[in-house]
Amino acid sequence: MKITFIAADGTVTPVEVTAGESIMRAAVQNDVDGVIGECGGSMMCATCHCYVDDAWTDAVGPQEDGESDLLDCAASEVRASSRLSCQIKMRPELDGVVIHLPESQL
Ligand code: FES
Repeated sequence: MKITFIAADGTVTPVEVTAGESIMRAAVQNDVDGVIGECGGSMMCATCHCYVDDAWTDAVGPQEDGESDLLDCAASEVRASSRLSCQIKMRPELDGVVIHLPESQL
């Protein structure tokens, strides 16, 4: 299945992933600039902050418990569509999801 990352400067990077993979890991493994994932997905860093594209927010779903506390520490502006990408696992209904990346993670 596919994820399309759109960086703050407009760079578009399509990535192929398997089900169960987190969006953070897909970005890191494919050298997508704009996602760091410092804590490896254990919800301790907020360097995997992303914005879910408006067309995909319903499919992706709301923040998990604890995400908004951590997003308070995010380097870039937090919006309604903000999520920690390590907490979004790929599943069939997310095939083709579009993820926007913040300007900075640090
Ligand atoms: Fe650290 Fe997501 S990778 S919170």
